[in-house]
Order: sequence, then C-alpha cells, then structure tokens
Amino acid sequence: MTTFEIPTIATDRLRLRAFQASDLDAYAAMQANPEVMRHMVTGRTSTRIEVWRTMATSLGSWLLRGYGMWACEKIDDNAFVGSVGIFQPLDWPEPEIAYALDRPYWGQGFATEAAREVLRHGFEDLGLRRIFASHFRHNPASGRVLLKLGMRHEGCQREHIRKWDLMVDSELYGILRQEWKNPE
Ligand SMILES: CC(C)(COP(=O)(O)OP(=O)(O)OC[C@H]1O[C@@H](n2cnc3c(N)ncnc32)[C@H](O)[C@@H]1OP(=O)(O)O)[C@@H](O)C(=O)NCCC(=O)NCCS
Repeated sequence: MTTFEIPTIATDRLRLRAFQASDLDAYAAMQANPEVMRHMVTGRTSTRIEVWRTMATSLGSWLLRGYGMWACEKIDDNAFVGSVGIFQPLDWPEPEIAYALDRPYWGQGFATEAAREVLRHGFEDLGLRRIFASHFRHNPASGRVLLKLGMRHEGCQREHIRKWDLMVDSELYGILRQEWKNPE
C-alpha cells in the first residue's frame, strides 16, 4: 500500500490540514455561493458531487505532486474557513498558489495570513524555485493579497478556458524563492 502524509501547519489563527469527508457540507455550502464562485476558474457554483470530486482531486495532488490544497479552519472554534494551497493540474506550466474563503471570513486578513504560510511551505519545505499566481481582473481583493505577499505583477492575459469555453482577463503574478527570501 502506498502511504503519504499531508502536513498540518498552523498560523496564529488558522490551521491548514488535509481535507476530510466531514468537510463536505461546509465546502459545498461555500461553493454554492455565487459571490464566492464568480472569482474562481469555473466562474460558477459547484454541485455537491463536483465539490466531493474537488476534495478527492485535492487529496490526490498531494500523492502525485507532493503538494496540493489544504482545508483551512479557525483554530479557536475549528470552523471551516475555506481552502488554500499550491496546485498544478496536468496542463498547468508551474505550481500556483490558490485560496478561496467562505464569505463570512472575508476582510479579516485570513487569506494573507494563510497564503504567507503556503509560500513559506512551498519555498522552505518543498524547495520550489518559483510560485505563480493569477486572478480575474474583476477581483482586486485577490490582487491586493498577492501584492501583500510580495508577489510581482507580471502582466495580464486574455485567455480561453477550454474546459468551460470561457474567455477571461487574468492578472498574472510570480515570485522566485530568491525574492521571497530577500524581499526588497
Ligand atoms: C480574495 C479573498 C481570498 C480575500 O480574502 P481576505 O481574507 O478578505 O483577504 P485579506 O483580508 O487577507 O486581504 C484583502 C485585501 O484586499 C483589500 N480589498 C478588499 N476588497 C477590495 C476591493 N474591492 N478593491 C481593492 N482592494 C480590496 C482589503 O482591503 C485587503 O487589503 P489591506 O489589508 O491592504 O486593507 C476572498 O475575498 C475570497 O475568498 N474571495 C472568493 C474566492 C477568490 O476570489 N479566490 C481567489 C481567486 S484568484
């Protein structure tokens, strides 16, 4: 049997841990909210079955790539806050940092706090050379998070998401391990 371990890591207020079956209700409720999902790659809400598949794919990524998405919960009350991590589908050129929080948790610095730890994990624990990020143009809060992390805005791109037949304008960001270590 192949076994693998998904690390649990903590920030001041948040715990990042492996998805578990009991996350389905909270994660499905979050992904049923159009206000959250309009910023995600599909641009639309997900069904419960799709959310289950996303959780399974997230877990599989850890086995296949050595990194993936975590479930994110508040340390004080274990409430499910959202999902953060590094992901790279087969047709993605490089590892990408990603985060999505349920609506009640926006505007409290949680995304920046969790994503800082994700970058640290990517560079220090995994030894990645570079981490990429992107957000839709109509999502300035995400751009602000990426700049607060020290990521460099590299440009924008109109792209066609083949799977969903969607045209989107995306802002692209990157950071090298060297830049993360020596910010200036
Ligand atoms: C984007 C998202 C992750 C931000 O989470 P968050 O915990 O609210 O982020 P933080 O509080 O750490 O930081 C948000 C920053 O954006 C700023 N901001 C919020 N709304 C903004 C807006 N409309 N325009 C410009 N800046 C905005 C905040 O003021 C804050 O910056 P500051 O600390 O300098 O004041 C969250 O809104 C979310 O999950 N959205 C839905 C899913 C999503 O968009 N995922 C990212 C896909 S690329």
